[in-house]
Amino acid sequence: MEFFDYYEKLFGERWPALLESLKGESSFETLHFEQSLEPYYLDRASVFAAKVLGAEPGMDVLDMCAAPGGKSLIIASMLQGEGSLQCNDRSPERRVRLEHVLENSLPKKWRENIKITGYDGVKFGLHKKESFDRILLDAPCSSDRHVLNSPAHLEVWSAKRIKRLAVEQGSLLASAIDALRPGGIVVYGTCALSPLENDGVVSRILKKRPEAHAVEISDIPQGADRTEFGVHVLPDRTQGSGPIYCAKIQKKL
Ligand SMILES: C[S@@+](CC[C@H](N)C(=O)[O-])C[C@H]1O[C@@H](n2cnc3c(N)ncnc32)[C@H](O)[C@@H]1O
Repeated sequence: MEFFDYYEKLFGERWPALLESLKGESSFETLHFEQSLEPYYLDRASVFAAKVLGAEPGMDVLDMCAAPGGKSLIIASMLQGEGSLQCNDRSPERRVRLEHVLENSLPKKWRENIKITGYDGVKFGLHKKESFDRILLDAPCSSDRHVLNSPAHLEVWSAKRIKRLAVEQGSLLASAIDALRPGGIVVYGTCALSPLENDGVVSRILKKRPEAHAVEISDIPQGADRTEFGVHVLPDRTQGSGPIYCAKIQKKL
């Protein structure tokens, strides 16, 4: 099958162990901010990626592709109600879930500075130029772990789709950089295995946006791999967490 051949070629000797780990249990962190609230279970690598953003109280933050909201919970907990958090997602159905997650898992005092919107992320660069201190771009991606565990998705998987997604991801990343204030930071992330959706996108867009550059991420999870521009957390070496890729990109002052 195309999916297996594609990734076997990419990961070589590492593939059998990686494949087994992708079929196995994920490793979750429980986000439970108050006894009366609903706990939320988030993959440990996703918690790491959201923290890389380094959001601080008082900052204006955009979560460009936010639904269902796991990483928004982490950002809101970093802002502690001070500054602003715009949780955006283009999908109406997924925004309903996002609203539910924020309402039921965040303390009221951390919710007051949050607004939910439904714009196409590629519009921010034009309509919200230089407006945010931090942007999380958790991009739509090939979601390989999900695909692997869903026969219907596996059936329609294609290498062409990866290329199509990489184009979309690039447009979103360029828009995010344009929407950043000078000195601001974008964290670009995916849950994809292929470098085409990860370093490949970052490399292409940094060439088009010379005002931005990748900065090294400190304190990475044990077992995670450093790549040319970011960090790839893969479940075979991190006790089940991931896949998550993230790169930290800063706009010059
Ligand atoms: C990987 S998921 C985000 C997961 C989320 N960050 C979390 O931690 O729960 C990607 C999201 O991007 C949204 N999306 C896809 N294309 C978009 C676009 N052009 N603009 C805004 N959102 C988009 C999808 O609806 C989907 O909810």
